[in-house]
Amino acid sequence: MKILITGASRGIGKSLAEYYKTKGYEVWGIARDEEKLKNVCDKYFICDLSNLEAVREISKKLSGEKFNIIIFNAGISTPHSSDFPPLEAFEKVFNVNLLSIHALLEFMDFKDSRLVFISSLASLFGAPTSLGYSASKRALNSYAESLYYAGIDVVLILPGFIKTDMTKNHTFYMPFLMDLNKATKRMVKIIEKGKFFNPFPLRFYYIIKFFILLPESLKRKILKKYAKSDILE
Ligand SMILES: NC(=O)c1ccc[n+]([C@@H]2O[C@H](COP(=O)([O-])OP(=O)(O)OC[C@H]3O[C@@H](n4cnc5c(N)ncnc54)[C@H](OP(=O)(O)O)[C@@H]3O)[C@@H](O)[C@H]2O)c1
Repeated sequence: MKILITGASRGIGKSLAEYYKTKGYEVWGIARDEEKLKNVCDKYFICDLSNLEAVREISKKLSGEKFNIIIFNAGISTPHSSDFPPLEAFEKVFNVNLLSIHALLEFMDFKDSRLVFISSLASLFGAPTSLGYSASKRALNSYAESLYYAGIDVVLILPGFIKTDMTKNHTFYMPFLMDLNKATKRMVKIIEKGKFFNPFPLRFYYIIKFFILLPESLKRKILKKYAKSDILE
């Protein structure tokens, strides 16, 4: 059994890589930090996923390989800010969170693989303090859905807040913040089951769904009060 995980050097990707290794999988990883990748992966590629040409080169190298599971986990979020982000920052988020996925799949034979996409509950609405992150993850949902309806084996996971490097500097309140081990166990079960749409924790998901159903003017009022974004002014 063979698995490829992007962003296997830290956080969720590393935790999933360690799990699959204990289950006897040959684990392949992609990230920038060689020292960290070395410790968890049997084989790895050092790559900055915002460099799409470099990602395409890896895709070509992987063209003869078959993976049972491919987990598109690597992702970045720009710091939560009320500022309108510069194009470069916005572009980088889209490259890593979305376009690198297509660049990696381009030359790969993935028709018999289970493709797992790590999106976010933040994709379900346009958070005013994380323009690039929400938009890129929402586009990712759509990308995954298209592949799913095209007959590919796709698992889309939308987690809430998990304790990793990504969230360690957040100064705002993170409801239902999850421990990494617990979240990993949940994701492993989801991947095993193979259902398409998987938001968690469910209580947080239903609160967001309720929020989405509110009238637009009320939603705006709530966001204005809590998100404190100049963009909303
Ligand atoms: N933590 C949460 O609360 C949360 C919630 C919902 C969704 N998610 C999603 O879960 C995924 C993993 O997040 P995490 O919390 O584990 O984040 P993390 O701890 O910051 O780890 C991010 C991983 O992505 C890799 N990565 C980042 N930028 C990269 C780049 N330019 N090129 C190559 N690799 C890059 C990092 O490796 P290197 O630094 O070695 O390159 C690292 O392995 C992301 O897609 C994130 O959006 C996280």
